[in-house]
Amino acid sequence: MGPARTAKGAAPLDALALEDAFIALTDGVVVSAAEGRIVSANPAAFRLLGEDQLLGRIFDDLLLVSGAAAVQRTDGHVVRRAWFPREERMGVLEVVSTGIEERGWIHTIRDVTAQAELLRLKEDFLLQVAHELRSPVAALSAALDLLHQDALDMPRAELQKMLATLMRSALRLEHLIENMLDAGSIEAGTFQVRAAPTSVRIALKEALEVVQYQLDAKGQQLVARISPVADRVLADQRRTAQVLVNLITNASKYSPGSTTITVSTAPVGGSVEVVVSDQGPGIPENERPKLFQPFYRARTAREAAGGVGLGLTICRAIVQAQGGDIRIASGPDRGTSVHFTIPKARELAEEASGA
Ligand SMILES: Nc1ncnc2c1ncn2[C@@H]1O[C@H](COP(=O)(O)OP(=O)(O)OP(=O)(O)O)[C@@H](O)[C@H]1O
Ligand SMILES: [Mg+2]
Repeated sequence: MGPARTAKGAAPLDALALEDAFIALTDGVVVSAAEGRIVSANPAAFRLLGEDQLLGRIFDDLLLVSGAAAVQRTDGHVVRRAWFPREERMGVLEVVSTGIEERGWIHTIRDVTAQAELLRLKEDFLLQVAHELRSPVAALSAALDLLHQDALDMPRAELQKMLATLMRSALRLEHLIENMLDAGSIEAGTFQVRAAPTSVRIALKEALEVVQYQLDAKGQQLVARISPVADRVLADQRRTAQVLVNLITNASKYSPGSTTITVSTAPVGGSVEVVVSDQGPGIPENERPKLFQPFYRARTAREAAGGVGLGLTICRAIVQAQGGDIRIASGPDRGTSVHFTIPKARELAEEASGA
């Protein structure tokens, strides 16, 4: 060990030996002799590799067990990626091995699980976005094609149906693009809302203009129970409508046809709680906290319906920026209900009296 360092008689900085750095480092460092046997390893190496005993063992054998694959080879360096058990699941380690002349190797080991996961999510996301864009764009071009050929001879009713398809597809594209832009500004920390006294009823009406066609298409009914208290909240009306669009869209697309979706409100302390509930499959408890992460989609939902996994992330950003909170309550086979709060707008009289 290095020199003892107490708060009072701390060793001067220049007395910090290389060995202290070696011990304190969060990356694992392993030194192996020319024939591969480990001669030295820092505490992080034991922790990352999940081994109690390293000295004397062949380093490459450890990696072999975990199915390491070389991802890069340059003169003197080998970069390998390996899977290792980490807490409950598998983690990804990146191992960079550098030859020390002919005498041996120094291997640095870094936990890159988070980066690997993000990369995978982003790859999935790109695929999903392309997939999501494809159907409205295909519907748009098919409808435009038909209109281009026969618009003048088409019966009025058919023309109207066609235009409705065009509107729907355009709305879907607009919604998708808006979600993606917002996700970008949330990540960049520039996301903003403009709260003013407004009504949940009006925001819901605005939302229904976007989602009604989807409910109709699945034969679903929306029941609204909006109490008078929800008519005076402090919120960004357009953004609140966007939250409702996202939640109602989820409730609709993850639930079977001919079911009912309920939007209700109730006062809770200084806030109004809005609840969107459905009669769908519900969400297992262990998945619930992850749903607010960007790009995260539950396993079952991935097959059930399209989506890119941004809706709830944006809902949370909007709700929190307005000073509220959002949570999911659901059990398997009990349907899903998403609860969010919006601060009540203070009465003008209250404001005037400074209450
Ligand atoms: N009402 C619901 N019933 C069941 N699962 C739901 C419900 N709402 C959300 N989920 C789950 O939460 C995940 C995340 O929802 P979110 O709205 O963020 O993304 P998405 O619907 O997949 O995509 P999009 O970005 O298009 O909204 C969904 O993929 C789904 O697994
Ligand atoms: Mg969604």
